[in-house]
Amino acid sequence: MSERLKNRHVLLTGAGGGIGLAVAEACIAEGARCSVVDRAVAAPEAVRALQQQHPDKLAYIAADVTDTQAIAHMLAEAKVAFGPIHTLFNNAAVFDLAPLLDSDEASFDRLFAVNVKGMFFVMQAVLRHMVEAGTQGASVINMASQAGRRGEALVSHYCATKAAVISYTQSAALAMAPHGIRVNGIAPGVVDTPMWDHVDSLFAKAEGLPPGEKKRRVGLEVPLGRMGVPADVAGAAVFLASDEARYITAQTLNVDGGNVMS
Ligand SMILES: NC(=O)c1ccc[n+]([C@@H]2O[C@H](COP(=O)([O-])OP(=O)(O)OC[C@H]3O[C@@H](n4cnc5c(N)ncnc54)[C@H](O)[C@@H]3O)[C@@H](O)[C@H]2O)c1
Repeated sequence: MSERLKNRHVLLTGAGGGIGLAVAEACIAEGARCSVVDRAVAAPEAVRALQQQHPDKLAYIAADVTDTQAIAHMLAEAKVAFGPIHTLFNNAAVFDLAPLLDSDEASFDRLFAVNVKGMFFVMQAVLRHMVEAGTQGASVINMASQAGRRGEALVSHYCATKAAVISYTQSAALAMAPHGIRVNGIAPGVVDTPMWDHVDSLFAKAEGLPPGEKKRRVGLEVPLGRMGVPADVAGAAVFLASDEARYITAQTLNVDGGNVMS
């Protein structure tokens, strides 16, 4: 590794596992210190294992991103742990599906609370801090999805929340450009994580498939021939956080094996 993030402080939400934790691992390998945030009070086992390898480079912070007070506490704890934040990896999200005519208010509220409200107010709090601190090389990476670029009959709310992530990324990039802060997004396709285990079980119920079958099918449809793994997304995240991406803002990068084109 080339220490592209040497001495940088990266704050990652929803990083107790899946893509977020893989990105934290890659950032640490590039020299960063990471504030890893998730909603569980105690650090998940995989986070503790990474922390044992890098005790002075990882702090775990419990916060629910739907709670604006918890966001303020999260930010305060992160600053105490590692000082000013250089990069926000704004990643926490939840998934649900239902036929459009049956989808209910509770599912709508939960998805928009985490994926849009949580995403926006975490970003706003961290951007205020970045502007105040005048952090050099500061940037935000919001986790969108291929779902934000198209509709899906069973997945309307999740698709809408991810379209909102792409839209906020564009507006925030323009608002922050005068401060020299970049705001970009990443739109993965299908990545094998705990979220996809949940997606698979929901599709199994909705489409009468055996467990694992939906995963198998979506993997075959990817032009590069397989589902992604969390580490496939990490390289793009490190690149967008690094100075190599210093002239890139307001973009949402597809990291999907070509899936959005298929
Ligand atoms: N896995 C995929 O195929 C895929 C595809 C496109 C986009 N994405 C996006 O990538 C990101 C990471 O997804 P993943 O697959 O690693 O999912 P994941 O479920 O493994 O990780 C998401 C994390 O967010 C946390 N979280 C949920 N609600 C929270 C809250 N209120 N406060 C704090 N943390 C909360 C969860 O505890 C979990 O650890 C998400 O934004 C997701 O929408 C994933």
